[in-house]
Amino acid sequence: MAHLPPVDAFDYIVFGGTGDLTMRKLLPALYYRYRDGQIPDESRIIGTARSPLSRADYQQRAHAALSTHVQPDALDDATVQRFLNMVYYVSLNGAEADSNWPAIRELLGTAPATRIRVYYLATSPALYGQICENLSRQELITEQSRVVLEKPIGTDLASAEAINDSVGRHFPENHIFRIDHYLGKETVQNLIALRFANPVFERLWSCDAIDYVQITAAETVGVEGRGAYYDRSGALRDMIQNHLLQVLCLVAMDPPVSLEADSVRNEKLKVLHALKPISADDVAIYTSRGQYARGTIGDRTVGSYLEDLGEGVTSETETFVALKAEILTWRWGNVPFYLRSGKRMAEKCSEIVIQFKSAPWSIFSNRPEPNRLIIRIQPDEGVMLCVSTKDPTPTDSLTLRAADINIEFEKAFNIRYPDAYERLLLDVVRGDPILFIRRDEVAAAWRWIDPILQGWKENKAPLEPYAAGTWGPEGARNLLSQSGHLWHEDMKK
Ligand code: BG6
Repeated sequence: MAHLPPVDAFDYIVFGGTGDLTMRKLLPALYYRYRDGQIPDESRIIGTARSPLSRADYQQRAHAALSTHVQPDALDDATVQRFLNMVYYVSLNGAEADSNWPAIRELLGTAPATRIRVYYLATSPALYGQICENLSRQELITEQSRVVLEKPIGTDLASAEAINDSVGRHFPENHIFRIDHYLGKETVQNLIALRFANPVFERLWSCDAIDYVQITAAETVGVEGRGAYYDRSGALRDMIQNHLLQVLCLVAMDPPVSLEADSVRNEKLKVLHALKPISADDVAIYTSRGQYARGTIGDRTVGSYLEDLGEGVTSETETFVALKAEILTWRWGNVPFYLRSGKRMAEKCSEIVIQFKSAPWSIFSNRPEPNRLIIRIQPDEGVMLCVSTKDPTPTDSLTLRAADINIEFEKAFNIRYPDAYERLLLDVVRGDPILFIRRDEVAAAWRWIDPILQGWKENKAPLEPYAAGTWGPEGARNLLSQSGHLWHEDMKK
């Protein structure tokens, strides 16, 4: 990435500046971009939060965050010091009208009026509206100001619309950047290249050749101290409504006419609109939800979700979800898209599996395996095509053996794969919204998710336990086996 031109100097004002996201993701991402020469030294990163910290205290926290979350070989003292010189702190409650606004006004006022300003809201989404209202009252929204909204935007369609309305009163839609970090992942962006630069795939990209599609985001971590947020959210809201539906859109959309942001976003929206609704009454047919129980991951015994939440707590929140989506278009008639995501699963693995139809007939002594294209989002980013080849072991007949055509991107291109936030944070400064979610996409996604939430609330699908370190509850397997399909890990057996 070192060859990318630097962006113009900017002020990045982070609300929630002492939070986990800022320390774990935002500061390290900005550091990498700075180290690669893309951020001019006059830029400023201004953390804000309620804690009464001095600038030096905050710089110290930022330093500790870099030491923990940046690769050691990317850290050198002089660069870290220059980066920290760009870091400021203002103790402020962004949601309160009479908080320490004069301090931030004064700080921002020292930069040229034309400087790009990014207000990054890494707080509870319930505060987004009030923060924007206060920014507006304080006359801090200039023509060059943008606002970044972290997910989750709302907990259902109505609350998402309310948040979008309240932000939209102060920022025009093209200055609102709704971040979904999955879109910043290289392999997710690579889907566009893979599909639309390689006719060999695009010609086969429909129900004519594809049997079914799986999109998985499995994690081995549990709720990691985020129990209070997660327990109100659950896997469907936390991962499916945003990340996995976005990936589904990129897999399923028609070719956009250009790489102009709205051209791509219009195609994604068409997919969301074409999703067959899953009514509350049908959740038992189309969804499986689970919650992790005690189990073993590798050689580690880990506690249950309820134990992670704390003693004596009960919860009906799902930490795993699998569902069968269908897209009602000519291209995708009768092709199920299975989506699943879970915590405390057997492996950390995000991938897309395109399962092609079987050969209609075999002239060989064994049947060829259906071709399968596996796009590995993380880890080990790459693309693999499973094909049938001649078994080289001598036999008296021509026998087939499955083999893989495999590209591992890191090895192929010999580069470090950047964290998704690196690309996205500077796209905001550049004003490029292609990898951000438009308001109508958020609404369409919630419109599809809401009845599922309703069905679960009415207990129309059981919440099944699954042992930590497994691939989820039995219901997830049944979801596919009804149609004679298998999850990827079961195909490998
Ligand atoms: C976040 C979710 O959006 O994505 C987390 O809130 C989840 O619960 C994370 O752990 C997963 O991101 P990644 O990049 O590790 O797949």
